[in-house]
Amino acid sequence: MTLGVAALLQGAVAAIITWWRGLPLWWLPIQFLFPIALLFAHAMALSPLVYFVLFILFVLIYWAPFRTRVPLYLSGRPVWEAVAAFFPEDAAVQFVDIGSGIGGLSLYLADRFPKATVTGIELAPFPWLISWLRARFSGSRAQFIWGDYANVDLAQFDIVFTFLSPAAMPSLWIKALSDMRQDSLLLSYEFIIPGAKPDIVIYPALGGAPLYGWRIPQNF
Ligand SMILES: C[S@@+](CC[C@H](N)C(=O)[O-])C[C@H]1O[C@@H](n2cnc3c(N)ncnc32)[C@H](O)[C@@H]1O
Repeated sequence: MTLGVAALLQGAVAAIITWWRGLPLWWLPIQFLFPIALLFAHAMALSPLVYFVLFILFVLIYWAPFRTRVPLYLSGRPVWEAVAAFFPEDAAVQFVDIGSGIGGLSLYLADRFPKATVTGIELAPFPWLISWLRARFSGSRAQFIWGDYANVDLAQFDIVFTFLSPAAMPSLWIKALSDMRQDSLLLSYEFIIPGAKPDIVIYPALGGAPLYGWRIPQNF
């Protein structure tokens, strides 16, 4: 058997197992093509340094998704505008985006609400650095903290925004209930908290994902 045939067979077996185990369909082409892509990469005989540099770059961008189970992907203008609708125009609101990525939402809100205090917390160094540089060079009042939101007291914020992943929601809810003040607002784009009925469900973009909101109840 040639290596090419072996790679095709392995891809086919991986795709069948993927389908059998019920993974989302978009995994099928990835599983099928991965061994073949590996062969191509090997045939290019690239220096190991290329792989090392790419590995370091990915680590800096994604940092610890094996632990947090939250990769980097970005919300956009319709979501930012939907979040802005919760800001009273003239109030000194304290806002935080936990997992702020490259800072787009925080920069937008800081610009639009001069009296608000806007903070972004980001775990991955490279996105955090980009957001920090963006704030610095645009003269934005948004602040960006490099760190894990688990170590930040959420009691200081009136509005907490998240765009994380389904896996992150249960522990986020426990933290929100233990830290956040009564009647403060937790917003989550796309991901619902299992077992916690949202007080708010809106759709920032037609056909897009929902933005959920929970008013923090008393006595937690
Ligand atoms: C889906 S992105 C959202 C980016 C941004 N909030 C937006 O709306 O465009 C989620 C980000 O959360 C970060 N993240 C995941 N777990 C975190 C944690 N425990 N503390 C801080 N940031 C975290 C990830 O590194 C990733 O950049």
